[in-house]
Amino acid sequence: MNNFEIEPDIRVAETLSSDFYTDDGYFEESKRRIFARTWQVVGLESEVNNLMPHMLLEGFLDEPILITRDTDENLHCFSNTCTHRGNILVQNECRRDGIRCGYHGRRFSLDGKFLSMPEFEAAKNFPSERDDLRSVSFKTWKDFVFASLDPRDPFEEFIVETGSRTAEYDFERHELVERKHYLVKAHWALYCENFLEGFHIPYVHKSLNEVLDYGRYSTELFRYSSLQTGYDDDGDTSAQYFFVFPNLMYNFYPWGLSVNIVKPIKSNLTKVEYMTFVLDRSKLDQGAGANLEKVELEDQAVAESVQRGINSRFYKRGRYSPTREKGVHHFHRLISEFMDESNEQSRNVRHKKPN
Ligand code: FES
Ligand SMILES: [Fe+2]
Repeated sequence: MNNFEIEPDIRVAETLSSDFYTDDGYFEESKRRIFARTWQVVGLESEVNNLMPHMLLEGFLDEPILITRDTDENLHCFSNTCTHRGNILVQNECRRDGIRCGYHGRRFSLDGKFLSMPEFEAAKNFPSERDDLRSVSFKTWKDFVFASLDPRDPFEEFIVETGSRTAEYDFERHELVERKHYLVKAHWALYCENFLEGFHIPYVHKSLNEVLDYGRYSTELFRYSSLQTGYDDDGDTSAQYFFVFPNLMYNFYPWGLSVNIVKPIKSNLTKVEYMTFVLDRSKLDQGAGANLEKVELEDQAVAESVQRGINSRFYKRGRYSPTREKGVHHFHRLISEFMDESNEQSRNVRHKKPN
């Protein structure tokens, strides 16, 4: 059954039901149906020395994973839980030539194989493959490491257009200059769908509107991503805004790249993490890439305002602008597709019940 059906024809379609944003049951279901089945950024490859523990979507999925770099420099990704009685194996980032559980001393190699365990000489059928660390699907793209608990589709299908449309961008040369995060009092999808249309720019971002040619602003849709392009008055590209479903934004500006990762915490609270990479400092304060902090706070304020409105007894669904809200319609269609029970496939990951 699909409670969130969205008509494919944007001219007749109605937006996502407000229940999706307000009902805690759907918020819980979105963990299993959307977030466990897509790809999440877990860090930068250049920052993985040897053993890097990570809590996948902390405060939401809360899945402990472990990235390792073995002696041949190969990366691996495992569940960070001991196969004996479930202790967390690695608490803090460290350098070791192997992994040893701090509870009863079970040892594993950096590629996840069981090595030894005291007091198990008399155990039968031991060790077996089940005593090795559980692998977690992961991929690297440029310097970004992604993991997925139960991928619905290969990572490449999510990133292909971002890669091909930014082939000129020099990822090798840009430099990480800032990491920060904000807490936004709004549902994660409200934050994302605000990002997915330029329709609000003249109303919400007066200063940004002055440097963008609103008439030329374009939106292109792909299977699991979309691209919005902003142009300046001379017709030059001033920003490329990629969205990778369900919660990742790559914003390319003439000066470099800003990455936003949208992390749900509660149905009305979202953490947005930012990474800023600079390629050309001389262009930092120009065009659509300038005053990003101001634009960000304007976006957050409007997302929080919608959060308050969407709880109203009088609001259920709206309509889309066929010319300006293609990206939002596409995002809602993907949510609908993932939340649809009839799309469930057999899976090998046990999903936690809500606490
Ligand atoms: S839980 Fe790890 S050795 Fe017992
Ligand atoms: Fe905005």
